[in-house]
This record gives sequence, structure tokens and C-alpha cells, in this order.
Amino acid sequence: MKREQWKSQTGFLLAAVGSAIGLGNIWRFSYMAYSHGGGAFLIPYIIALMTAGIPLLILEFGIGHERIGSAPLAYAKIRRNWEWLGWWAVTFVMFGIELYYSVIISWCLNFFMLSFNLGWGDDPNTFFFEDFLAMSDAPSDIGNVRSPILIGLIVVWFLNWLIIYRGIQKGIELANRIFMPTLFVLTAVLVFWSLSLEGAMTGIRAYLSPDFSQLSSPAVWIDAYSQIFFTLSLGFGIMIAYASYLPAKANITKYALLTAALNSGFSLFAGFAVFSVLGFMAVSQQLPIDEVVRESIGLAFIAYPKAISLMPGGNIFGAIFFLSLFVAGLSSSISIIEAFTSAIVDKFGFNRKSVVTAVCCIGFAGSIIFATNAGIHWLDIVDHFLTHYGLVVVGVFECILVGWFFRLDILRKHINSVSSFKLGTWWNLLIKYFIPLVLGVILVGDLYNELSKPYSGYTWASIILIGRDWILITVIVAFWIASKDWKTDEHLKPVRGETK
Ligand code: ALA
Repeated sequence: MKREQWKSQTGFLLAAVGSAIGLGNIWRFSYMAYSHGGGAFLIPYIIALMTAGIPLLILEFGIGHERIGSAPLAYAKIRRNWEWLGWWAVTFVMFGIELYYSVIISWCLNFFMLSFNLGWGDDPNTFFFEDFLAMSDAPSDIGNVRSPILIGLIVVWFLNWLIIYRGIQKGIELANRIFMPTLFVLTAVLVFWSLSLEGAMTGIRAYLSPDFSQLSSPAVWIDAYSQIFFTLSLGFGIMIAYASYLPAKANITKYALLTAALNSGFSLFAGFAVFSVLGFMAVSQQLPIDEVVRESIGLAFIAYPKAISLMPGGNIFGAIFFLSLFVAGLSSSISIIEAFTSAIVDKFGFNRKSVVTAVCCIGFAGSIIFATNAGIHWLDIVDHFLTHYGLVVVGVFECILVGWFFRLDILRKHINSVSSFKLGTWWNLLIKYFIPLVLGVILVGDLYNELSKPYSGYTWASIILIGRDWILITVIVAFWIASKDWKTDEHLKPVRGETK
């Protein structure tokens, strides 16, 4: 089986940036920053980017490129008994994160349509929670499927399917070549427009004023590290698969640095728009900035509509905003599905197109739970648990596997042999000691807090059944798939670096 390759390396870069930049940069980044008091979040965010984000992105690109495989294949080629780690990552991301991710993209599509006639009325808080989501009181109170969300979901899954079905070059690469420039232009328009709003500076001050007292709270740190994982698509298995489609000569560190810089630059830049709008709302409603939004998870769907209704030409602004979110979300969503698809194709040798179709059908069916009245509760719990105890844990294991059960120097030598920016031994130290240790300590602290009171006031039963069990089931599935025999000889194929 011949591995498909990117048509050009710029195509790879655009796809990696397309995967990184997503709902995480606008919807998630802004609500994380808002719920941690604005500027207080930026310091841990930047520290997490430097100490874990960039070194791990280099690691993931390096593994995919050197071992030439999707995550499970690449890990199997490092140590056969660690294949499960790759399966775990791609499984909980595909059948966890992607399921609610696609629902948020459907919200964006709905809000894009609503923008034209400001369909959310005068009170977007009430509209979002009560009319649009018709949110139930508890996760167990599932109620019905919301038809506008379901219709949006059908569109989203159809587009997911269409793009991935067309393959790497004609699907993913082409889509990102269109999506990324569009997204950058739309976002620039948004940011400059928002900065001209009355009160924008009040918001910007909240966004940029650091609050050092927050740094002693473990919750800020785990949120910052998990946000970095989420936003750089680390621990998703995506960056490994994407790098495996690169030709032998590829400037790995340059692409990692560019991807990280463009991604975080985009978040920080888009943050100006979010906080200008929050400042505008605070001034026009004469409220303190931390009181303008009721539940921060809905920030993008409340703050923007409110501001859009108040500003001249708001409907165009709204359409641009939700279209950008939609485009950003879709380019990440396809990368998630691709990571799972390529893992299955690598191992079982099934026809790629059939796998894409089956995965998209199952994914669509699974996402419906997040389109019900209880959807936002499920989303909140699954997002919290899978980012903290999924992505970050995968990152720790990745460092342990590559740092301790493999000669890290093989990888570093390979990366240095193809890259312009050379890695020093500092990189080994980060991967081997610093990242697993720091993330390990943060995770233990986080788990301790988790056990002392149920997350976000939900009942223990919901936390256990939706949060913990979601993780456990994906772990079991991962070990099960890893125990199956290889139906292809991909795992026996040579790697690019020096062999042991
Ligand atoms: N990296 C993607 C995002 O931030 C998943 O949305």
C-alpha cells in the first residue's frame, strides 16, 4: 500500500495550521480566559506553550515523520506493546471530542443563519440557553433532539465526509488552501471592527492586565496546559498522521515553530475581538466585565450576538464571525476524523473511502446526544474530562514512551538531519524529565480537586457515568484494537531514522 503524500509542504503547513486553529482558538480560548479573569490566563498559557506545546509538537511531527505512520502505527513501530496509546488517543478524540466538536460547528452554522435577521432578539443569554439549546436542568434529563442543531449536524457531517473522502491532496489539502486564507481575512476584519466599538478599551484592559495572584491556583495551570494540548491538537494523533504524509526531506522544526506561532498568534489576535466586544457590552449595559456573560462556556454564542444586535451593520459582522468559527471548526474536525481513519487503514488495510463513510456515519449518530436538551451538560463534562485526563495524559505517556523506552537521540538526530533549526539536548531534558514531571504533578493536584467536589456542581452519578466511564470505555476499546493482528505489513516497514 503506497502512502499518500501532501502535494506540497505548504499544503502540509496549511493543514497543520488548519487542524490547530479551530473552535479552540475562539470559543474555548476566550471562555477559558474569561473564566480565569482575562489577563490572568495569558501567563500560564504562554508558559504552557513554551514548556510543553512547542517541544511536544516537534515530538509529534518527528514521530510521524520518522516512523512513517498514524499514531498507533508509529507507536507500534517504537514498541509493539505501546500501540494501545495511539489507539486510545485517536479513539477518545474521534468518539469523544469530535462528537461534541461537530455539534458546536452546527451551532455556528445556526448562528450564521440567525445573524442575517438578528434572530436571537434582545436577550441572547436567554435565547441561547432557553430557546436555542432548550437546556434541561441536568445531564440525566435528556429530553428531545433539537431539530435546528440536528439539521446543522447533517450538513457538518456531510462536509466532513466529502472532504476526507476526496483524500489527502484533493480533499484535506485543497480545503485548507481555501479555508485558511479565508479565515485570516475574516478574522482581521472582525478584530479591527471590534476595536472601533465604544468600550473596547475596557475589554482590552481586562484582557491584557496580568493578575499574578491567579498563578497560585492549580486550576489555572491545568486549564492552561490542557488548552495548549487542545489548541495545538496535541495528544489527538493528528499531527503524527499529518507528518507521516510528508516526503523524506521536510523541515520539521520550522513547521512546528510556524504552526505554533500562527496558532497562538491567531488566538491572541482573535482575543482582542472577544474582549473588545465584552468591553462594549460592559459599557453599554453598565455591568462589570465579569458579569456580562452568565455561563462562560456559551460566551461566543452570547457575547457576540449581544454586541451584534447593538452595533450598526451588526448582521454582517455576525455573519462574518460565525462563518469564521464554522470554517475554523471544520478544518479541525476533518483532521480529527483523518487521524482515526488513517489509523484504521494502516492497521487493517481496509479501503479508505469505505472507512471514511463508516466513521462519518457512526460519528454523526454518536454526536446526536450532544444535540439534545441535555447536550450542553454532556459537552461540558466530556470536554473537561477528555481534555484533562485524555489529552494531557496522552502527552505524559508519549514523553514516557519516547523518552524512557526508546532512544530519544534517534529521533532528535533524525529531526536535526532534516530541519534548519537544530534541537539541542535541552529538548531531551524537556521530553524526558520536565514535561512528564510537571504535567504529572499538575494532574495529581487536579485529580485531588476533582475528587473533593464534583466538577461544576454536577451530581457524582453524572460525573462518573459521563466523564469517568467515557474515558474507561475508550481505554478498553484501545487495548482491544491493539490486541488484534495486523492485517497489513505497515508495522514491518522501515523507518526513516537510524534503526536500533
Ligand atoms: N486544535 C483544534 C482546536 O483548537 C482542535 O479547535
